[in-house]
Amino acid sequence: MIPKDTIDQIFEAADIIDVVGQFVSLKKSGSSYKGLSPFVNEKSPSFMVSPAKGIFKDFSSGKGGNVVSFLMEHEHFSYVEALKWLAAKYNIEIEEKERTPEEIAAQGEKESLFLVNEFAKEFFHDQLLKTQEGKAVGLSYFKERGFSEETIKKFSLGYSPNISSALTKSAQEKGYKLAFLEKTGLSKTNEKGSFDFFRGRVIFPIQNITGRVLGFGGRTLITDKKVAKYFNSPESEIYNKSKILYGLYQSKNEIIKQDECYLVEGYTDVISMHQAGIYNVVSSSGTALTEGQIRLIRRYTNNITILYDGDAAGIKASFRGIDLILEQGMNVKVILFPDGEDPDSYSRKVSITELDDYLKNKRQDFLNFKASILLKDSENDPIQRAQTIKDIVKSISIIPDQIIRSVYIRETSHLFEIGEQALHNEVNKLLKNQHAKTVAAEKGKGPDPGLEEQGLAIQRKQDDKGKHLLDLQEKDLIRLMVQYGSQEIPVMVANEKNEEEEAGYFLSQYIIEELLSDELQVQNPAYQRIFEEFLDGLKQGLVVSDKHFIQHQDSDLSRIVIDISTPKDMVSENWEKKHHILPAVESLRVKEAAVQSVAIYKLRVLENMIIDKQEALKQSLTETKLDEMLLKIKDLTETRNVFADKLGIVITR
Ligand code: CTP
Ligand code: MN
Repeated sequence: MIPKDTIDQIFEAADIIDVVGQFVSLKKSGSSYKGLSPFVNEKSPSFMVSPAKGIFKDFSSGKGGNVVSFLMEHEHFSYVEALKWLAAKYNIEIEEKERTPEEIAAQGEKESLFLVNEFAKEFFHDQLLKTQEGKAVGLSYFKERGFSEETIKKFSLGYSPNISSALTKSAQEKGYKLAFLEKTGLSKTNEKGSFDFFRGRVIFPIQNITGRVLGFGGRTLITDKKVAKYFNSPESEIYNKSKILYGLYQSKNEIIKQDECYLVEGYTDVISMHQAGIYNVVSSSGTALTEGQIRLIRRYTNNITILYDGDAAGIKASFRGIDLILEQGMNVKVILFPDGEDPDSYSRKVSITELDDYLKNKRQDFLNFKASILLKDSENDPIQRAQTIKDIVKSISIIPDQIIRSVYIRETSHLFEIGEQALHNEVNKLLKNQHAKTVAAEKGKGPDPGLEEQGLAIQRKQDDKGKHLLDLQEKDLIRLMVQYGSQEIPVMVANEKNEEEEAGYFLSQYIIEELLSDELQVQNPAYQRIFEEFLDGLKQGLVVSDKHFIQHQDSDLSRIVIDISTPKDMVSENWEKKHHILPAVESLRVKEAAVQSVAIYKLRVLENMIIDKQEALKQSLTETKLDEMLLKIKDLTETRNVFADKLGIVITR
């Protein structure tokens, strides 16, 4: 348990712009910050952060929260993990004992896998730097490759000793369970017992953007065709290779700074580039580039430059990558290395200035790159040439932005001496086909479930018996309490002499007393909890603040309040229209708003009670009961009419 004081201190210190900015590229927009949603694939920014409120809101996925819930959502941290991460970042000490084996065992599965990997990373790193075998075999290999001690530390490189179960044994001694060692793929078990997956290999830990270890790559040092050069961790709950980019952790700051990301093939390419002084490099580590990986990059920059070998395989891989990147609306350039060289070998061969010059001068936009490659074989063959043009046009049609498409069409037209209109026609044909496919795929999907979540689907206000669903009304009361709960409003109350007298009431107090005096209980359990916390506070003469809820441990409460507190400038222009709410005007007339909201709520409750009674009436048999019920209905109806009058509502039923 982290003490409450410390939690408050962490929230106090944490700067949400600073934290979120580490994962999402944010731009200032009014008093908020804007960026592309890290949770869904989108082309225009709908992700907002309000430093004043300390909250984020993602209008695409509907997710929202405070700085801790962001880390939980984005990094899949537990609540405690997120707090610890922030504490470490802001140098806040958390008094805690060292983990006992029992505590390690009690961790959630995902967390356990991370812990095992963290242990293994340290283990391999120590083996490399501190053991005889590690130094003689692993370290000397890295040195030979030109990796400095600093680079080795930066990437936490390691070495797995060439004995059967060094890691497995050592980890178990420290209390890490075999089950988790197996799930991360670090240990294997057969009839003879458990043994290490990586043996006699140099180790490349694969980290996520916050530096947590997801898995490992291990390179053999034996030159034997029968031995696989690289072993990689198997997929696990935390290792999904299509969503991982090697080097992103070490490179992301420079990617933001340069507004460009170099994409290379493997571990050694990333590290050698860093060693040479180029720090904005990531790799898809041996797998074909995926959409998920491109989206990871897009959080930091829109510009990707692919660096691949100039051999046929390298070119083929770059073609696939180009279309994927274009599809995401990003800019893609290509730099090919001389045949037989990859970024790793080339960066070691030439000086840093030569490398810089090469990277500067050899870059081609995708169109010229494709054209130059494809035209090489089709110089004098008109059919081949037509095929090349079609190929390029297809890439252009993938670009989501129409203006950018037009620019490329013009360029293609010049390059191939072919009319722009013909190219436009071809692009449009492809777009139409694509559109038809999308429409077919969308059919039968039903309404967007995201809308309901955002409270936009307000048509369904009544259930099938005609009773009002009170949720929206309850939410409105909660909203008033959260936004204006501590504002004083004049209320007429009876004094000791039983005379009416004006008194200042907190708005939250007014609403609560109104409901309590009629013994009304809010139905939504989360809203009920919010009510109770207000009530508890009022008993001590306090009005709990929105901040209290925003930082609440009960994530339901904090989500609700964050949703409510989302500042006006964080929402799209027609939000108010959709929600029938005018926040700016309302603060001037909070009392009126509270009275009205309470009255509507009571009216709806009464109407529901009348419907209940009418239902019961239909089933009632005895004469006396019938009379009793009719009286009750009459009573309820009169009361309802009082509220309806007050609200100026005409009752038609
Ligand atoms: N790679 C991989 N799995 C393989 C081969 C390669 O994951 N079976 C990835 C690695 O990330 C590696 C990159 O592709 O860094 C480049 O491959 P290669 O040049 O073959 O690896 P190197 O370790 O650089 O080997 P060499 O010293 O022979 O160049
Ligand atoms: Mn290589």
